[in-house]
Amino acid sequence: MDHFPIIQALCRAALAQPTPAVRKQVERLRDALTKDGETKVAGALSSLLTAADRSVELVPSRIAKSRAQFPGETLSRNTQVPVDRETAAPLADIVFPPDVSPQPPLFDDTVSRAIGSLLEEWGSLEALAEVGVEAPKTCLIYGAPGTGKTRLALWLSAQLELPVLVAKIDGLISSFLGTTARNIGNLFAFANRYRCVLLLDEFDAIAKLRDDPQEVGEIKRVVNALLQNLDSRREIGLTIGITNHPRLLDPAVWRRFEVQLEIPWPNFDVRVEIARSFMPPVTAPEAHLRLIAWFTEGATGAEIEALVRTYKKARAVRVGEPRQLLDTLRQFATLNSARIDPKRRELLFADIGVLFKAMSRDPSLGFSYEDIGNIAGKDKSTISRHISKSGEVELGTGDQ
Ligand SMILES: Nc1ncnc2c1ncn2[C@@H]1O[C@H](COP(=O)(O)OP(=O)(O)OP(=O)(O)O)[C@@H](O)[C@H]1O
Ligand SMILES: [Mg+2]
Repeated sequence: MDHFPIIQALCRAALAQPTPAVRKQVERLRDALTKDGETKVAGALSSLLTAADRSVELVPSRIAKSRAQFPGETLSRNTQVPVDRETAAPLADIVFPPDVSPQPPLFDDTVSRAIGSLLEEWGSLEALAEVGVEAPKTCLIYGAPGTGKTRLALWLSAQLELPVLVAKIDGLISSFLGTTARNIGNLFAFANRYRCVLLLDEFDAIAKLRDDPQEVGEIKRVVNALLQNLDSRREIGLTIGITNHPRLLDPAVWRRFEVQLEIPWPNFDVRVEIARSFMPPVTAPEAHLRLIAWFTEGATGAEIEALVRTYKKARAVRVGEPRQLLDTLRQFATLNSARIDPKRRELLFADIGVLFKAMSRDPSLGFSYEDIGNIAGKDKSTISRHISKSGEVELGTGDQ
């Protein structure tokens, strides 16, 4: 379909506000295309519809109603945050809700639904109270670096239109006996006074104190301070903890969090959507997004974002004759050797026929010889010839 990229962009723009009428028309178009045998482009529209569903699931409508229920004074840009008494370093930064609601990070359906239901509870505090139950006020988000944890916490707070008090964990930890516990107390007292989300990002750093045998007494004091403060804050406001190393946390601290949300590595479909989300203003063909997702198996959102940046640069610097996608992937894999799965990396630099065969056989890609030809700038009979010359290949494992 010649002008499909424009149609697709139109549908995506329309689905930013997925009213039932918009959805219905996009579904009609998808069904008509399927009927005409245009399965690939119909699939692209299905992905758009799924992505639209996901963001709707994530944003329940009742949040506004309960905003007033988070008590406290209003933080202003002039409010002074508490500081460490010895160093005068601030113990936190304040992030105010952005004027334009940010895009949510992208996760698989299970995680998205869990996040959606959490937001729904935060949006229904009154209704919950009427039946004698409470929404959880403490949430621990954990997972590998670069999987979108901080972005999720900031996005959740933006949905509630609450400012975020981002604790500077390194600043909290003091070499003076007793000061760390006091800093924690001061930070929580400040958070409790104002309407805000308290964000303890990368807060396993506190647990690292335990590595030092000199610090046994101090770590006890610090953990006790954390436990007491987490408990007393629970009645007052939301606390989000983030860690890459949940097991480093003291088990008692870990248990204090009513919600423990693990952020997984993105699967193939999510990787396609993450690549798509970072692409504008560049429009990439669907096959390119899929190939990027394929090569980033085992990578995080941050790594996909970096690869998309490389892709966009390659497009921008060679406008008339953009660099071939495979060359861009090779360039990225060379400059970011730790970021690409070794098996996929090996394929990129293998005999071209071996690479084409792996691409043509992977069901998650669903590529025809023609698709591969389009990507590689060759015709399909050349692709076929390369593949038949390549012999048997051991394929990289797909995660679909
Ligand atoms: N699932 C995702 N969807 C969209 N973007 C993502 C996703 N995961 C990561 N990113 C992007 O990667 C970058 C890093 O994300 P973020 O800082 O939230 O990761 P993190 O999990 O907090 O990492 P760290 O543990 O290193 O602090 C951001 O620019 C974010 O937009
Ligand atoms: Mg982070």
